Amino acid sequence: MSGIALAVIGGTGVYRLAALADVETREVDTRFGKPSGPIRVGHLLGQKVAFLARHGEGHSVPPHQVNYRANLAALKDIGATRVLALNTVGGITERFGPRVLACPDQIIDYTWGRISTICEEPGSEVLHVDFGEPYTPLLRHKIVAAARVTGVKLVDGGCYGATQGPRLETKAEIARMRRDGCDLVGMTGMPEAGLARELGLDYACLAIVANWAAGCGTGEEITMAEVLANVEAASSGLPELIGELARG
Ligand code: HPA
Repeated sequence: MSGIALAVIGGTGVYRLAALADVETREVDTRFGKPSGPIRVGHLLGQKVAFLARHGEGHSVPPHQVNYRANLAALKDIGATRVLALNTVGGITERFGPRVLACPDQIIDYTWGRISTICEEPGSEVLHVDFGEPYTPLLRHKIVAAARVTGVKLVDGGCYGATQGPRLETKAEIARMRRDGCDLVGMTGMPEAGLARELGLDYACLAIVANWAAGCGTGEEITMAEVLANVEAASSGLPELIGELARG
């Protein structure tokens, strides 16, 4: 299938795009194995959009076990060239409180032991892709513009720190990340962004802040109920934003 204007990867709390119409389900197998679940392809405000739930539609795949390579390769195999990654995150610095939407422009990778390259197949050429700008700048600009056009409030910029999970961080870990320059913390930003670059996909992140990270904000205990409620509240403008992004 071709003509996919945009592929969307949903994170924790975003397991489907309810606004997708005429949905067709694609079960895809790739040279890296199976993605986290079926790809739903449909129309959103007149544009063909593909959706994949990163953790599976039942939220059953933990961050360190997501087959990031298969997810991205599957989207590429069905004809997608642009990927909008929705990432549920914790907020570290002042501007990134719960329910904020942000389009980060940098990443620090604290993950370990994940397959982080496509260059592991026997005989494949080793790639040293440029990753100075980890998110495709043009796609980032289009996200920011789509937010403006649709009246969705969005913070432009920020540094995403990718942790291993699935547990949340200690206060000391978050304090170190703050010193490092991280504004946001999540568990799935890497290796996904690096693999997208290796695969030649345009890729950018729309981060949904679900809670203050450990020791930040009010410093209260983080609950899954809080995370899911804030993701839902922050996501109300996403269908319009995604539809607008798919158009341009
Ligand atoms: N830390 C890491 N990942 C997250 C968080 C957090 O506080 N909230 C949502 N995803």
